[in-house]
Amino acid sequence: MSGLPVVRHETPWPLSSDGLLFREAVEADVEALQSFRNLPEVNHFMVRTHVDPEDLRREWRAVPDSPTDFSCVVERDGEVVAMGFLDVVDGPGQPGVPDGTDGLIGYIVDPRVAGQGIGSATARALLRAAFDDLGLRRVTAAAYADNPASVRVLEGAGMRRERVSVQALWHHELGWIDEVGYALLADEWRDGPG
Ligand SMILES: CC(C)(COP(=O)(O)OP(=O)(O)OC[C@H]1O[C@@H](n2cnc3c(N)ncnc32)[C@H](O)[C@@H]1OP(=O)(O)O)[C@@H](O)C(=O)NCCC(=O)NCCS
Repeated sequence: MSGLPVVRHETPWPLSSDGLLFREAVEADVEALQSFRNLPEVNHFMVRTHVDPEDLRREWRAVPDSPTDFSCVVERDGEVVAMGFLDVVDGPGQPGVPDGTDGLIGYIVDPRVAGQGIGSATARALLRAAFDDLGLRRVTAAAYADNPASVRVLEGAGMRRERVSVQALWHHELGWIDEVGYALLADEWRDGPG
């Protein structure tokens, strides 16, 4: 439809920003990703808690061939220190609305290097990739309401809090927990952080 952004499904990576390299994962990265994905400090904040290491390998292997998954690894000084998730998803779905206009982002930083700005830089890079490279219309993210670091990351990246969903998620240690939802439109990105 005219007036709507054209979504280009070419990889936005590699991208260098904030002293970090955001790039597609290769087989040699999987061990580093496995080394922090299941740490307690990570699983405490994830709906999907323990991930079988071989499932993790299979999922990252599939990314380069996926038309909708633009997840990346984050490298600092040659070490993989984080993973970023960027999925192209469908918009509202009414007749005539094109598919694949929206994005969903997420991130996990290795707890051994937490608090050094990597999460914030990753959110910014994911938004830049989503809006400037993939041409998406709207990007959303969600976090546990009781995840202050992630909330700071999303708000610091300029995303707008849109909702609090009460006891919306189940966590195997915490029980039912509240979720906060954030969003940003392409126009807001261009007028603001972008
Ligand atoms: C959430 C996470 C990505 C933050 O990454 P990070 O690299 O540590 O974050 P940054 O260093 O960029 O800090 C971002 C902000 O959070 C604040 N922050 C960091 N750790 C915090 C903590 N434990 N409690 C409160 N605030 C915290 C920082 O002070 C900073 O605030 P500022 O923007 O006002 O300066 C990381 O902790 C993580 O991966 N956690 C486990 C997985 C997870 O929660 N993923 C997100 C699921 S929605």
